[in-house]
Amino acid sequence: PIRRVTAADIRARKGGDPIVSLTAYHHHTAAIADEIVDFLLVGDSLGMVMHGLETTIPVTLEMMILQGQAVMRGSSRALVIVDMPFGSYEASPQEAFRSAARILKETGAGAVKLEGGRRMADTIRFLVERGVPVMAHVGLTPQSVLALGGFKSQGRDINEWAAIEADAKAVADAGAFAVVLEALAEPLAAKITKQIEVPTIGIGASAACDGQILVMEDMLGLSDRTPKFVKRYGALRDHIRSALSSYAADVRARSFPGQEHIYELKTPKAAE
Ligand code: KIV
Ligand code: NA
Repeated sequence: PIRRVTAADIRARKGGDPIVSLTAYHHHTAAIADEIVDFLLVGDSLGMVMHGLETTIPVTLEMMILQGQAVMRGSSRALVIVDMPFGSYEASPQEAFRSAARILKETGAGAVKLEGGRRMADTIRFLVERGVPVMAHVGLTPQSVLALGGFKSQGRDINEWAAIEADAKAVADAGAFAVVLEALAEPLAAKITKQIEVPTIGIGASAACDGQILVMEDMLGLSDRTPKFVKRYGALRDHIRSALSSYAADVRARSFPGQEHIYELKTPKAAE
């Protein structure tokens, strides 16, 4: 079998060629991305992207495990990382371990990701010491949206820098193999990338990071609303709309199904 990229492989890419990653929630998209990216993230953004939720707060461990299994079946080469959803890890390191163990055992994924800086450092250490590779996530942490009062970029006021720098340093020191920096002002993302010894993976955090991630449906142009930091590399909404309209027109004109789509008799038709 093809050897999968590991968390250790990603860790070793610090300062090297940029690390490429995307989210994936299902089998087909995982299969297409598998040979192109270094890792696939089964992000809890699936709550918004797949289910139309307003935030990631309602996402459950069961939802993450189900889509994690689909992505593992679709991929064979890329590292697969699964997000720990809100409420599955914050209360204690023990609770985090139980949730992470379920994710790893039931999906076969190679790592988990969780949100939070200094306050999650003890939990990250606890997991890493027990064999769970952890990707951290600081800056804009969408699971804190209720407390933050919205999805807001971070570190545009230099008075905020010390706290965010301390968060990134704490999770790296605790053993995270990489850190997602979300919606961070460029000079702060650049400074953190220089300061910490593990790769930074940016989303809305500039090209100074060691790697990049985007939500696949956003970059493909399938999502209806996207943040400023998304570049649209596709126009899937237009593509799908035009395909569906052609299908509807064909059905209405009885030009679909055509001769090539129907099952003909194997035996000569009986005389009528
Ligand atoms: O859930 C998600 O998609 C994420 C990435 C955008 C980093 O956490
Ligand atoms: Na997420």
